[in-house]
Amino acid sequence: MEKIMNVKGRVILSMLVVSTVIVVFWEYINRNTEIGGSGIQKGWWFPSWFNNGTHNYQEEEDTEKEQRNGDNEEGLQLWDWFNPQKRPEVVTVTGWKAPVVWEGTYNKAILENYYAKQKITVGLTVFAIGRYIEHYLEEFLTSANRYFMVGHRVIFYVMVDDVSRMPFIELSPLRSFKVFEIKPEKRWQDISMMRMKTIGEHIVAHIQHEVDFLFCMDVDQVFQDSFGVETLGQSVAQLQAWWYKADPDEFTYERRKESAAYIPYGQGDFYYHAAIFGGTPVQVLNITQECYKGILQDKKNDIEAEWHDESHLNKYFLLNKPTKILSPEYCWDYHIGLPSDIKIVKISWQTKEYNLVRNNI
Ligand SMILES: *[C@@H]1O[C@H](CO)[C@@H](O)[C@H](O)[C@H]1NC(C)=O
Ligand SMILES: *[C@@H]1O[C@H](CO)[C@@H](O)[C@H](O)[C@H]1NC(C)=O
Repeated sequence: MEKIMNVKGRVILSMLVVSTVIVVFWEYINRNTEIGGSGIQKGWWFPSWFNNGTHNYQEEEDTEKEQRNGDNEEGLQLWDWFNPQKRPEVVTVTGWKAPVVWEGTYNKAILENYYAKQKITVGLTVFAIGRYIEHYLEEFLTSANRYFMVGHRVIFYVMVDDVSRMPFIELSPLRSFKVFEIKPEKRWQDISMMRMKTIGEHIVAHIQHEVDFLFCMDVDQVFQDSFGVETLGQSVAQLQAWWYKADPDEFTYERRKESAAYIPYGQGDFYYHAAIFGGTPVQVLNITQECYKGILQDKKNDIEAEWHDESHLNKYFLLNKPTKILSPEYCWDYHIGLPSDIKIVKISWQTKEYNLVRNNI
């Protein structure tokens, strides 16, 4: 009898031990799946910079996760791919906590993996009017074919004033052209300002249904290296190469109160370059519509902003902060030289042969 009790006791004891082990193990598994796949990477990629309690990043990221509107990077958080501490010598985070993407700050493998699963399509608009077609378009498109969003679907929206002069370019797989003929303006200032109107019209008519992200670029530049998914965001602005270290009061913002692009001294974050801007189609539509509104208002008041559409773009981004900023590595002018800040030039300015390509200088 005693022996049987002993055996029973031992069985109950071992069952207790086994069930405790199962419960503990279950808890362990559950907790790990809650954190998700990125939790594993967090260990090595999660920078201590984000752990600083005084910064409140954790709280913000949590709210973003709940709202599911984190820069259209659902499931991918900033800290998963971005490490601002990799480039301590330059500004890598804005006052409103948007990333400034410099070479070295982003984890390309994680981003590529994420966007490949999303099966994104990225659009790129470019305008070439008159002699800009012969001078710049072929080199721009050939280099974009090679370096822009490699491995992802791309649609190049090419706006020319004469479709018959469109250069022949053989595109790689996943890339396609849509070529449109537009009515040329006489003055280059008007060409550059009407661009805002035309982009907006095309977004409404078809681009919004065709792409997930859209970039708008000037034609007089050449891709030199990979311009990849690290640049994607809701609204993306480009730092102007000549001004990225200057004080806002030195910027060539429009300073006359009469212009819609007016920015008073003492205000302003960065000087943005109109040669590259982008975002989701909805955001780019807002950018182009607001800039065009400002341009029309100025025309009515018989004033033209100092740097035309760029002045209006700077005003827009002052009021509506970009969610991502690209370092001048993404649009560099070799006339400045090559300071140590510039690790890899992704796009470089072409020699501006204004006397050859512009009717009025
Ligand atoms: C944490 O943040 C505070 C306030 O912004 C700052 O003074 C401190 O240096 C930061 N510490 C670290 C380790 O980044
Ligand atoms: C569009 O721009 C206007 C004017 O700057 C701004 O008030 C509005 O919030 C913007 N809309 C979006 C969706 O960003």
